[in-house]
Amino acid sequence: MEKNKDTRVCVTGGSGYIGCWLVKKLLEKGHTVHATLRNLKDASKVGLLKSLPNADTNLFLFQADIYDPNEFEPAIQGCEFVFHVATPMQHNPTQSSQYKDTAEAAVAGVRSIADSCIRSQTVKRLIYTASVLAMSPRREDGVGFKPCLDESCWTPLDATSTYGNTFTMGYITSKTLAEKAVLSYNDSDDSKLEVVTLPCGLVGGESVLSYLPVSVRTILSQLTGDLVFCNALKLLQEYLGSVPLLHVDDACQAHIFCMEQPSMRGRFGCAVATHSIKEIAMYFQETYPEYKMAKESTEGPEQGSKSDFSKLIKMGFEYKYGMKDILDDSVSWAKKLNGGSLSHVV
Ligand SMILES: NC(=O)c1ccc[n+]([C@@H]2O[C@H](COP(=O)([O-])OP(=O)(O)OC[C@H]3O[C@@H](n4cnc5c(N)ncnc54)[C@H](OP(=O)(O)O)[C@@H]3O)[C@@H](O)[C@H]2O)c1
Repeated sequence: MEKNKDTRVCVTGGSGYIGCWLVKKLLEKGHTVHATLRNLKDASKVGLLKSLPNADTNLFLFQADIYDPNEFEPAIQGCEFVFHVATPMQHNPTQSSQYKDTAEAAVAGVRSIADSCIRSQTVKRLIYTASVLAMSPRREDGVGFKPCLDESCWTPLDATSTYGNTFTMGYITSKTLAEKAVLSYNDSDDSKLEVVTLPCGLVGGESVLSYLPVSVRTILSQLTGDLVFCNALKLLQEYLGSVPLLHVDDACQAHIFCMEQPSMRGRFGCAVATHSIKEIAMYFQETYPEYKMAKESTEGPEQGSKSDFSKLIKMGFEYKYGMKDILDDSVSWAKKLNGGSLSHVV
């Protein structure tokens, strides 16, 4: 695809952490963006998106909720590429009697969005923001790890966890089943729709939001002493053997890279570095000695396998930000939002 050509694209979940940075980058490149959010009356989310460069001419907002997935159809119509970034994080049983949990809602959401892409006759490629938590090398029988984490790995859904809670376990199930469901559209012989999934590592770094998203609070948890988010970090290491990291700008650039290829389909893991909780703690200790870390937050489950995130790089993608950039950008953003301090970050 010719770079910087004005292309019409749809971004679901355009007001979230990754979504709004992706919308910003697409607008800066001169593309026309259809962004969806759940509530067009939410003045802070709408205001944020409308303040982005080129938004006055090139940004169109649509209201759509995964619990009513047909709502995405108008946003998808006329687009060449669809980035499905939104995901149901919390199940709201009062909102729908249709789905029993976030996994059912997420799967119905990707199916409905893929079907809308096919019906549109304009969408060439659907790019889904997946999670490395769907890519665990844990063995199906729950005993030990496969030798290498790569795109051939799928998280076994009945594995037990020391660090998971209802929310995180529901998230892992929903991201795994939704990614499998959307990739299955590549198996149909007569489908012209190309589906790409990008299982992304733990995302950090500054975005345009005025609050810290969950993944940045997870990255900072050793410094802030937030044990709930520390457990999320340990869960990553428990499932993946280490913590795959990714800068928000690289995450969005990778999405755009997948759009710019003449033809592309399949699963491409997306993380620049994998480090253990201990290594991350050592970097924080050396760089920010003013913060005293609780010993329990600096140690994680000691097990794992090698990771291979080279498939996307072999396609020609180049990461710009390493582990130190991701950690430092997350710290400086949190301080900026929090009057120079990291205590009580929200
Ligand atoms: N951040 C990470 O470390 C990371 C890593 C791997 C994968 N991912 C994936 O990246 C995507 C974005 O995550 P994020 O970190 O940017 O989180 P986020 O800031 O919480 O964004 C979540 C987005 O999902 C939307 N959403 C939630 N429930 C919805 C529903 N029922 N219907 C429609 N939209 C709904 C939200 O829309 P509203 O603004 O309208 O509420 C929001 O835009 C997710 O698919 C996530 O699984 C994130």
